[in-house]
Amino acid sequence: MKAIVLKNTGTVENLTLIEIPKPQIKADEVLVRVKAVGINPVDAFVRQHRDALEHFVKPGPGEEIILGWDISGVVEAVGNQVTKWAPGDQVFGMINFPGHGKAYAEYVAAPAAQLALKPANISHEEAAAATLAALTAWQALVTYGKVQAGEKVLIHAAGGGVGHYAAQIAKHLGAYVIGTGSTGKKDFVLGLGADEFIDHTAVRFEEVVTDADFVLDSLFGDHVFRSLDSVKDGGRVVTLLTYFTDEKLIRKVEQKKAYTHRLDVVTTGSDMRKLAALLESGQLRSHISARFHFDDISQAHQAIESGKTTGKIVVSI
Ligand SMILES: NC(=O)c1ccc[n+]([C@@H]2O[C@H](COP(=O)([O-])OP(=O)(O)OC[C@H]3O[C@@H](n4cnc5c(N)ncnc54)[C@H](OP(=O)(O)O)[C@@H]3O)[C@@H](O)[C@H]2O)c1
Repeated sequence: MKAIVLKNTGTVENLTLIEIPKPQIKADEVLVRVKAVGINPVDAFVRQHRDALEHFVKPGPGEEIILGWDISGVVEAVGNQVTKWAPGDQVFGMINFPGHGKAYAEYVAAPAAQLALKPANISHEEAAAATLAALTAWQALVTYGKVQAGEKVLIHAAGGGVGHYAAQIAKHLGAYVIGTGSTGKKDFVLGLGADEFIDHTAVRFEEVVTDADFVLDSLFGDHVFRSLDSVKDGGRVVTLLTYFTDEKLIRKVEQKKAYTHRLDVVTTGSDMRKLAALLESGQLRSHISARFHFDDISQAHQAIESGKTTGKIVVSI
């Protein structure tokens, strides 16, 4: 089968298309013929940094490193303990995150429990997109944020991969949604159902929003201090990048009596299936702004590295 391996951490030139044997499946796994792969910032981050590769991918000694976690495809074979899936089923999911997902390949050995049935009304590209980013949004808003109907929710980077799912999920939960993004993303974010848009290039959001119940913060640096300014006392802030370890930050959280959590998205089949139901009913949609062929994966990495993505970037195999 064709697979893209990473010989060494570094530039996109280190991603190499080679022929390797199809993976062997274990008793609880299925062999998926991959049709589309979702691309995330973490893909490019682990490609560049050895420490990050060890942390997120944890490759075994001497093992070929195959990046990627987000797949949609067709079941070709099932392990002898698998009763849920059969050859021909169309499935999608985030495979073994954190861990060695090996998604950049024609075939992936996927734990059966990590997959959901791909809704018939969406494409493999739309399904592959709605995995790591959508699970992150779900776990931030539902698992940790516990967002309730009528609450005011501020979603940063609402035009990006995670943010565009988060804005839609927050609307689905019945929240009043404010999304931030750069100037050109206004129509896109309001089109997701957000009630308000804040242009982060023109406005300091914490001067406009000071009484949010919940904030999803996906940015680096002192941004989280500003997010804490925008929640009311006792509000909740979930971050995707910043840890709450800095003493000044801890004091700020205490002053606000805020609930805070730094999220690490994890693979759970049950969350995947909840997202599948929302995708099937049309309450959640994947917006794909760039599609690349498998041979052009380096361009997909360069696109995600821009940090300016609208919606999602996917690769077709
Ligand atoms: N901890 C976890 O489990 C976890 C999970 C998923 C993602 N992440 C991390 O979360 C971050 C976002 O992920 P993603 O997949 O959504 O990335 P993405 O698809 O690349 O989107 C990033 C978005 O951020 C926007 N942005 C940049 N600066 C901004 C600012 N100051 N204010 C508001 N928006 C801004 C960008 O466009 P505009 O500036 O044009 O609006 C872009 O739309 C990444 O760093 C990723 O690694 C962490």
